[in-house]
Order: sequence, then C-alpha cells, then structure tokens
Amino acid sequence: MTTTALADTARAIVAAGKGVLAADETPRTLTQRLAARTIESTAETRRAYREMFFTTPGISEFIGGVILQDETIHQRSSTGTPLVDLLAQEGITPGIKVDNGARPLAGSPGERVTEGLDGLRDRLASYREMGARFAKWRAVILIGEGLPTAGCVNANAHGLARYAALCQEQGLVPIVEPEVLMDGAHTIDRSEQVTGRVLQAVFDALFEQNVSLEGMLLKPNMVIAGQHCERQASVEEVATATLRTLSRHVPPAVPAIVFLSGGQDHLLATKHLGAINQVGGPKPWKLSYSYGRALQDEALEVWDGRSENVPAGQHAFYHRAKCDSAAALGSYRTEMESEAASA
Ligand code: 13P
Repeated sequence: MTTTALADTARAIVAAGKGVLAADETPRTLTQRLAARTIESTAETRRAYREMFFTTPGISEFIGGVILQDETIHQRSSTGTPLVDLLAQEGITPGIKVDNGARPLAGSPGERVTEGLDGLRDRLASYREMGARFAKWRAVILIGEGLPTAGCVNANAHGLARYAALCQEQGLVPIVEPEVLMDGAHTIDRSEQVTGRVLQAVFDALFEQNVSLEGMLLKPNMVIAGQHCERQASVEEVATATLRTLSRHVPPAVPAIVFLSGGQDHLLATKHLGAINQVGGPKPWKLSYSYGRALQDEALEVWDGRSENVPAGQHAFYHRAKCDSAAALGSYRTEMESEAASA
C-alpha cells in the first residue's frame, strides 16, 4: 500500500464531521462495565452490545471508523454477517486494537509500558486480511510526584513509533495514542507541561522510525486538570490550553487529531471538543473524536442488556454522535442536546 493510499484512508475516517467509535474494550474491561450494571458478560452479550452500535440507522453520517477488539473482529452479527463486513457495507472503516496492554515498567514503580511488538507484523497482516484498515495502540502516562520519568515517556514513545512503522508497512493507518491520564490531583498547568513533553517525545520517535505523518492519526488526551484537583478548569481554559499544546508539538502534516474521552463525562467531552473547534488560533489538522465511554455510556444505560431496549439505545448513541459531530465541525450548541434528543 502506498503512502498516498494510507493518507486517503486516514482522511476518509474523519471526513465531513466524522469521528471514530472506540469499541475495543477487552473482554475483561467490558465485563467490568457490564457488571457495574449487573448485565451478564458472555461472548454473546458482548456481541449483542456491539451490534447495537454498529447497526444504528444512519450512524455512518457521524462515525467514519470503528476500533474493534480481537474477539469482535472474529464475530458475526445475529443475521450471520461478519461484524467487520457489516461496518464496511455502511461505509465505516473497520480498525483493530493491536497492543497487548500496559504492563508495569521494570525499575519504575507505578509506571507502565505498553507491550505487544513481538509478532506484531504477522498479526497486522492477518487483521488486514480480515478487513481492518487501521489500528490502535495505547500508551498510558501517569502524572504523580516525580512522574512521569523520562524512562517511561521514552519507552512508550519508542513502542508507539515501532508499532506505527509496522502498521504502515502492512498497509494499515496507525492511530497513535499517548494518553496522559486524568487520574490524580494535578493542575491543568501540569497536564499541559506533561502532555507537551510526551507529544514531543512521540513525534521525535515517529521521525526516527520513518513514520509518514500524512498516513497516521493522533489520539491524545485533552489538556485537563486531574480528576481530584480542587480547581477544575473551565471549558474555555481546557480548549485554549489543549490547542496551544497541540500547536507547539504536533506537525501540521498530521491530517487529524481524534481525542480520547479518558473518563470525562459525555456532555463535557462534547463541550470540550466544541470549544476546541471554536477557539481562535491556527488549526492545521482536523480536530475530531475517538471516544469510547463518552460515546457509549448513555446507550449502555438505556440498553441495560435487554434486546427490547436496542432501538432506545441506538437512539441515545445517534444523539451523542450527532452532537459530537457538530462539535467536530465547530457548530455545537448546548441547545442541540434537547433538539437532537427529540429528533
Ligand atoms: P475513552 O474515550 O473511554 O477514553 O476510550 C478511548 C480509547 O480508545 C482508550 O484507549
């Protein structure tokens, strides 16, 4: 696959106000989310849950790509169609999570490094055979006293860059996800400082590994105060600090930045994205979303594990995706919450 083809795929995923649905929770993580609502977690209930999102009528207007997990990419819909084909038929690009998770970093208590490079080339080739056209690898950085260490930042940046180069070699667009966690009591200023340092390390590593920036997507955190910080920044402060940090550390050749929601409330995740797109200043990249929880939470609550609630769950998902899409286009207004809900 040529670099141009990768760039075309990357741009198509975020065309015209579209974003990404992150539906790549591991069976273990999804089991925890379902258990919190006393919904039984089996391969079958997990499939039914995912199918609700993938078959939401009209959703391809707002969702250009879906990140799947290994279990899901092997599953078929209730009518026997592979889920990955179901998405492709709707014009939604299927993607796949390929990291093996964040494990304790030896020599640095409390920090983690993402694993999964061994055998990755072959796994990417087989996922591409199955229909995946992009991939995701998530690194996590914790802010704390003396953290993150340079060792942790550099090890994770190196992993992301090696993964991204392998993806492009195998014809998949890499989503590069360095997530500075919102766990903790740090201020928004500290989040800005750490996020900038991490992004700088990631782009240095991508350059070293010859990754084509036009053929990738960046999935960062927003610059936001820690969830236990006494002073939570306003929506405008988050928007300004996020844009300032990105403009300092992300080259304009990257076609789009698709934010993670990272545990933010769904409404706040929408408002932040809307404000980021409305605040003044140069924006050489598209600024869109690749939300997991913020796109799924309302639908999960409404669905509650019952097949008769699927249409209501789909309605909730459609509404949230419509608002997030408006936020990506810079046209989100709070009033849309009631307008879209009654549409
Ligand atoms: P959240 O939006 O729930 O953070 O999930 C996005 C994601 O893909 C994390 O890796």
